[in-house]
Amino acid sequence: MTGRPARQVRLAAGANRWTGAGSRVMAFETLQEYVAALEQAGELRRIAEPVDPALEMTEIADRVVRAGGPALLFERPKGSSVPVLMNAFGTMGRCAMALGVADLSEIVTRIERLVQAEVPTTLVERGRALADLGRLASFAPRRVRSGVCQQVVIDDAPSLEMLPILKCWPQDGGRFLTLPMVFTKHPETGRRNVGMYRMHVYDPRTTGMHWHAHKEGAAHYAAWEAQGRRMPVAVALGGDPALIYAATAPLPESVDEMLFAGFLRGASVALVPCRTVDLEVPAGCEIVLEGYVEPGERRLEGPFGDHTGYYSGADEYPVFHLTCITHRRDPIYPATVVGRPPKEDAYLGKVTERLFLPLIRLQLPEVVDLNLPIEGVFHNLAVVSVRKRFPGHARKVIHALWGLGQMMFTKIIVVLDEDANVHDMNEVIWRLGNHIDPQRDICFAQGPVDTLNHASPQPGFGSKMGVDATRKLPEEGHPRPWPDAIAMTPEVKQRVDDLWERLGL
Ligand SMILES: Cc1cc2nc3c(=O)[nH]c(=O)nc-3n(C[C@H](O)[C@H](O)[C@H](O)COP(=O)(O)O)c2cc1C
Repeated sequence: MTGRPARQVRLAAGANRWTGAGSRVMAFETLQEYVAALEQAGELRRIAEPVDPALEMTEIADRVVRAGGPALLFERPKGSSVPVLMNAFGTMGRCAMALGVADLSEIVTRIERLVQAEVPTTLVERGRALADLGRLASFAPRRVRSGVCQQVVIDDAPSLEMLPILKCWPQDGGRFLTLPMVFTKHPETGRRNVGMYRMHVYDPRTTGMHWHAHKEGAAHYAAWEAQGRRMPVAVALGGDPALIYAATAPLPESVDEMLFAGFLRGASVALVPCRTVDLEVPAGCEIVLEGYVEPGERRLEGPFGDHTGYYSGADEYPVFHLTCITHRRDPIYPATVVGRPPKEDAYLGKVTERLFLPLIRLQLPEVVDLNLPIEGVFHNLAVVSVRKRFPGHARKVIHALWGLGQMMFTKIIVVLDEDANVHDMNEVIWRLGNHIDPQRDICFAQGPVDTLNHASPQPGFGSKMGVDATRKLPEEGHPRPWPDAIAMTPEVKQRVDDLWERLGL
């Protein structure tokens, strides 16, 4: 297997669709189409030099991500003939490309339009609403009989050794698959889940299955385990990058990641039945690992250099057993490295921040904007601006956010007034310091925290802090007048603008 030469971007039949919101979505059927598009756009570098997937790829990818550099295709990974794609999502521009749009705001607009749908009154509006609904239905995944991901089927003694799986950091417990889409089905409802959970390679046919306790994959496993039954699992690598993103998205349990991916890419995802397990995987993906997780089986997983920038310690997790590998004839292996920010996953997190803001607003319309600073590794810090209307409003938002999906993990929430720019950390710190009386304006709560939070006294349970940095009302224990922020008058600004050239400054 060798790296593919550059080729023209081919669009999937019918996949170049008008979404109805004025923007056009381009769907990739395979990761290799995306690679070709990256190359055409000057966003990809091929590395012909042999590079070791153990540590060396990390060091190279890390330097390139920090410099805002291109996606990388390692064509000659040491020990494998399968090329490695890294940093495919490593800028906001590439994330937009991965989702088939020129700018992420195009998708945000589509989501806003979807969730803000008003009751249609005129005939034209009714027609448009029906068309929108019809279009939504067309994004549901469809079943196909064959796919490139099954061009080669290895069901006799499959081995992970064929893959260039990375050892990311020096103290990692071994090699880890870092961009796997883990497909499972709930044993009672039959509902699919697709989550991205890293997999620690123990030997050629077994890995760890690192779904944290709060995640959907873990909930599915608990249901299979309660029935004492072996759980079928399929792990897809590659495919349209929109699918890879969808596997990381914090969707509610009831929303199928493949439907969400269909919505993002503006075309339904083609799914093909697996060969040895009762599951379906994207027909266009590069590599599929089919297998199962036994009830009751646990094994030490980790340590692993994690998103936080620290090693997450070894812990007991379920074990994945490989029964079959299928792959396209010339597959590429997608990987990423997480660690102290910024890393590639920071951009995936920022995509989630933008795409999920309209959904947060659906429940909390007073929320104006949200910043999950990348140094806050997405669960440590959220800065949110709100349209404050009543005493205690900021606290209401803080507690509501802690009750909203994976926002439950947020260790520190800072609330600012609606006129604040939450993305300007200078302004955030300026307001935060000036606006709070710590004893009055900070609230604490206890509850679930991210499994990666090493500061909580025990794993998965700890405290969180909400900071009300809005202007205070008398009813909030601030009887004194609130001062105006200093600003020059527009008239003086204009006069100085007019003078400016002559001042020679
Ligand atoms: C690169 C990357 C690796 C991840 N690894 C894990 C992991 O090992 N375990 C985990 O529980 N979540 C991990 N996540 C986060 C989950 O993918 C994310 O929370 C997702 O929403 C889980 O899906 P679910 O809600 O269907 O469980 C990772 C995310 C990224 C971007």
